[in-house]
Amino acid sequence: MATLITAPSRPKIPDDIAQIVIAPKSYADDKVIYPAFKWLRENMPLGIAEVDGYDPLWIVTKNADIKLIERDAKLFHSGDHNAVLTTQAGDAFTRSMNNGSLRVISSLTYMDPPEHGAFRSITSNWFLPGRISKLEEQIRVLARRSVDHLLSFDGECDFVQDFALHYPLRVIMTLFGVPPEDEPRMLKLTQEFFGVHDPEEQRPEMIDDPVAAAKMWYASLQDFYGYFDDLSAERRRNPTDDLLSLIANSQVNGKPIPREEANGYYVAIATAGHDTTSSTTAGGMHGMASFAGQFDIVKADPAMIKPMIEEALRWACPVKHFMRNATADTEVRGQSIGAMDRLMMCYPSGCRDEDVFTDPDTFDVRRTPNSHIAFGFGPHMCLGQHLAKLEMRVLFEELMPHLESVELAGAPKMVETNFVGGYKKLPIRFRKK
Ligand code: HEM
Repeated sequence: MATLITAPSRPKIPDDIAQIVIAPKSYADDKVIYPAFKWLRENMPLGIAEVDGYDPLWIVTKNADIKLIERDAKLFHSGDHNAVLTTQAGDAFTRSMNNGSLRVISSLTYMDPPEHGAFRSITSNWFLPGRISKLEEQIRVLARRSVDHLLSFDGECDFVQDFALHYPLRVIMTLFGVPPEDEPRMLKLTQEFFGVHDPEEQRPEMIDDPVAAAKMWYASLQDFYGYFDDLSAERRRNPTDDLLSLIANSQVNGKPIPREEANGYYVAIATAGHDTTSSTTAGGMHGMASFAGQFDIVKADPAMIKPMIEEALRWACPVKHFMRNATADTEVRGQSIGAMDRLMMCYPSGCRDEDVFTDPDTFDVRRTPNSHIAFGFGPHMCLGQHLAKLEMRVLFEELMPHLESVELAGAPKMVETNFVGGYKKLPIRFRKK
């Protein structure tokens, strides 16, 4: 269990700021979360949050510090505590259901060296740009279908619900070999999995209670496992060249991958691969529609689609945090970090760090260099990053030629989450070419 000994010299973050950074609902409002991060970067770039109901933790807001910590996966582990920030009550419930362990899911995210490397290497070649580029034509067919659907609207739609939400799910499910009729179930499960804090994403039995949130998370996981158990058994009997077959038939340290780890892999890929991508896609459109001249720059030159996507990743940054814990006493930015202290990597803050980005709140597709950390950094850096970028590039390549202009037709609505998520609604008005 993480206990953080707060010596008097350690910088305690003011309660109102600490509350904002930890509370899921803050992330639904850019005008709340980003000023809090800015205050921290300027006044207390590495400070301790002590919020009722949560273990004390270090809030890491500088781009350089996040990189420094994430680079060293031996000194800073992901899996000794919970890799995701949860309430103490939620963690206690998880331990009670899980033989005292907080490793609710045996996925890469919760693994540390050398286990992490052994499991990541099962699919790391599959996700390399050269291998992924072979999927481009298959993905383009799905992109065209999505664009055709968008164009069937008469100049006005919700860019998220009517367009961005479904395509990344279709892509990953196609690569997994999941039949199209099962996609609604996968979408629902992912939204529950990530949206435990958002009132609109909760199961009916959910109440505003951290243990109920943990229970719901657990229930989603069991649903996923049940589904993937069957599919996995099928792929062992009849292997194909899809990603699910690769994982189901893999060996780790000379033995077939265990059930828990295979399921952890499927769930991680199934869930990590689409809410993130759809939110970034929506972020790109939001940025182009609301910052003067940005749509026209990309429209005039298809080569600007790639940098626009990098800027959408930086600006929308759909993964809000992952946790690390120190494995030994150490020092970061002059602060003494104790063994087992927990640290929250605030990627959206690192993506708007004034030391790295000029006018960080401005969406600027011409920004170069753009060294955002929306995919994290170091050995855990997003496994699916090349796939995500390819998917988004192909989608905008198919979409942009059909659009003459785009503007916002209402206020965007964001998911209330301190973990993974972004746009729930993005009303747009567009003129077709
Ligand atoms: C725009 C889309 C995406 C964003 C912003 C994103 C972001 C991230 C971030 C921030 C991490 C944690 C990195 C760290 O701890 O340093 C991560 C990990 C991961 N992502 Fe993504 N991701 C995206 C798309 C995808 C896709 C498409 C897939 C797979 C199909 C995927 C699979 C994973 C996996 C398996 C991990 C765990 C890697 C590890 O711990 O070794 N992600 N992602």
